[in-house]
Amino acid sequence: MKTINIAIDGPAGAGKSTIAKMVSAEMGYIYVDTGAMYRAVALYLTENNIPDEEAEKHMEEVEVSLKFVDGTQRVYLGDRDVSDLIRTPEISMAASRTSAIPAVRARLFDLQQKLARENNIIMDGRDIGTVVLPNADVKIFLTASAEERANRRYKELSEKPDCPTYEEILKDIIERDYNDMNRETAPLKQAEDAVLVDTTELTLEQSAAKIAEIIKERV
Ligand code: DC
Repeated sequence: MKTINIAIDGPAGAGKSTIAKMVSAEMGYIYVDTGAMYRAVALYLTENNIPDEEAEKHMEEVEVSLKFVDGTQRVYLGDRDVSDLIRTPEISMAASRTSAIPAVRARLFDLQQKLARENNIIMDGRDIGTVVLPNADVKIFLTASAEERANRRYKELSEKPDCPTYEEILKDIIERDYNDMNRETAPLKQAEDAVLVDTTELTLEQSAAKIAEIIKERV
């Protein structure tokens, strides 16, 4: 049976994962966060002191897998749940570099396509509509200004100890955008047949409602 595949791409902090989670819960689809897979590989390389230049040689031994617990994705390296460990600023920056390595992308590509073949999914990332699922039923490119994305991230972190400044967060976002859009392999860009949604002026609820509407019109 053909599965329904929905691709959501866009830069860091545009709200992809929060919105995709809300919409997939509403529609009964599985939400697949591909950024978490790149983060898990980055964690593996970091923990084992493997420099990026040598990553390719180690790809066979990296075992990334996903499990879905009550509809929530957990990411595993081997049999270790690393879902929380991959959310640090260091791993964010490392994942941005790691994801530019073609051998890393090749390793995760098969896993992502298999998930899409076997399940009704909403998959988010940077190259889902362009490379991983070029025949997705619906493609959305979700974006917001860098300043607004930094603002949201700052609000999220401001309660926590050691919160970075707004300027530091903005600088990180601009650097990651640059890396993601300018790498040679599968750079972040809008697929020709993707619907552009800019959430700069929208609340989370408004953004989720808009995405749900776009999906329901098409499937
Ligand atoms: O969405 P995120 O911030 O968790 O992604 C982490 C990094 O992985 C980010 O710098 C971009 C990269 N990435 C990618 O290159 N391709 C994807 N499909 C998903 C993420």
